[in-house]
Amino acid sequence: MMKQAIIITGATSGMGRYAARNVANDKITILVARNQDKLNDVKEEITAQGGTAETIVCDFSDLASVKRAAAEIKALGLPIVGLANNAGIQTSSTAKSKQGFDLTFATNYLGPFLLTTLLLPNLEVGARVEFTASAVEDPDRKFATRAGFRGSRLVTVADAAQGIYRKGGSTTAGFDAYATSKQCVLAASLVLAKENPALKINALEPGMTLGTNLGISDANAVLKFVLKYGTKPLQWLSPLLKNFSTPRVAGKLISKIVTSVDETGAYFDEKGGLMQPSVQMQDPEYAQEIVAQTRALLQEVEY
Ligand SMILES: NC(=O)c1ccc[n+]([C@@H]2O[C@H](COP(=O)([O-])OP(=O)(O)OC[C@H]3O[C@@H](n4cnc5c(N)ncnc54)[C@H](OP(=O)(O)O)[C@@H]3O)[C@@H](O)[C@H]2O)c1
Repeated sequence: MMKQAIIITGATSGMGRYAARNVANDKITILVARNQDKLNDVKEEITAQGGTAETIVCDFSDLASVKRAAAEIKALGLPIVGLANNAGIQTSSTAKSKQGFDLTFATNYLGPFLLTTLLLPNLEVGARVEFTASAVEDPDRKFATRAGFRGSRLVTVADAAQGIYRKGGSTTAGFDAYATSKQCVLAASLVLAKENPALKINALEPGMTLGTNLGISDANAVLKFVLKYGTKPLQWLSPLLKNFSTPRVAGKLISKIVTSVDETGAYFDEKGGLMQPSVQMQDPEYAQEIVAQTRALLQEVEY
């Protein structure tokens, strides 16, 4: 019998890399990220532990790349039973994507939304879809506001795509784009779960996960060093602390959500319990409006 496939995006680093290595050996793991060499490294790790993997190069900030990647995944002809939308960035500088969109919003939301939309018709009945969201979307989340986040600053999806966010946001560059993109990720998860009752579609807030590469790509050398090594003691304590996690634990949760949970439309926290999204996201019409605006935007843009 043909092996079933699980897609893990952002599989070359951090929690996605652990998630990919957790997929059982009776499945094929389809690894998705931008860099072929890094993808090959993870593929080798999986092969060394007796598993099987395929690699697909995709830049989620570029809708044309996402479309090509979706076609390549379909061309593998594998029965797809899981899709973990985990790839993401957090930057402190503003940049534009190939289609002229805010780079963070395009990478974290528009690209994964398009990939999921293109693959939905090809998913097996009962397949699981995971979205790695973030509780920083919630303006009332104390843990996030203390760190400088002000929650999602969504005006419209078209505005967010242009890097325009509601006034009164964070004073830290990049935080509004990140929080807004993650609220849209959560909206997509909740709405797609309702629209696709034959699938199990859920979101994860993985917790503050030190030791990944998130947010350090454009940090200066000193900050890079501090984030990577200065936080080591906190990384050891993370499994015991509320709101904190490790790449290994978060990866385990991602692989569990994409391979074995029974829920759909759920939002899991960093310990695997159920959690509430922001007050805004508890309004189903608000989430539906985000998805409707996203579909309208993606229809307008040429790529
Ligand atoms: N770390 C945290 O505290 C935390 C908290 C809440 C949510 N999250 C979310 O968790 C997810 C994983 O983050 P992480 O902490 O594990 O970070 P990470 O170590 O930086 O991993 C990010 C992954 O995404 C991929 N990626 C980045 N940009 C991409 C693009 N344009 N196209 C395709 N792939 C891309 C990277 O691969 P390449 O660079 O090889 O392409 C890498 O595999 C993200 O969605 C993040 O927002 C993280």
